[in-house]
Amino acid sequence: MKIYLIGYMGCGKSTMGRKLAQRLNLCFIDLDKYIEERNFRTIPTIFAEEGEEGFRLCEKKALEEIADFENLVVATGGGAPCFFENMELMNRTGATIYIAPPTEILVERLLKSKNERPLIKGKSREELTRFIDENLQKRAPFYEKASLIIRDKHNLEVDDVLRLLEKE
Ligand code: S3P
Repeated sequence: MKIYLIGYMGCGKSTMGRKLAQRLNLCFIDLDKYIEERNFRTIPTIFAEEGEEGFRLCEKKALEEIADFENLVVATGGGAPCFFENMELMNRTGATIYIAPPTEILVERLLKSKNERPLIKGKSREELTRFIDENLQKRAPFYEKASLIIRDKHNLEVDDVLRLLEKE
């Protein structure tokens, strides 16, 4: 069994992934952390040294490795489903869950977050809101290929996700 959590930066994939894995007695992998360990560099360093293009190649390779593992929950990076055939690979090798909170929630979380995210670094609240709205329009068609889509939940609990998964 393998579950991939997908969705925009700040949607809560890692937090939910960790909880879900614990409840289902599965391992948990954070794709960004996996990329950092495999490449001996942080995500911002990979972006700085190789650009987004280089990062996307590292991401694709890491996802292909993880796709061969079993019994785990994977929290992917926000862009992972939107490049190459990554979304098809995930759908072929597991269940995909798209967590889709409204933009206001993503903005609040990202403004508070301490994680460094090269794509949104230094943006004001207004710039961030505009960037997310525009970027989400491009990404939504990929995210919406998920086997389960969870929208508009302000305080998504692990029980909500488990209930929806059972209905699938
Ligand atoms: C990215 C999201 C980040 C990370 C990288 C690029 C994106 O992961 O993979 O900074 O393109 O949306 P999170 O979604 O965990 O922040």
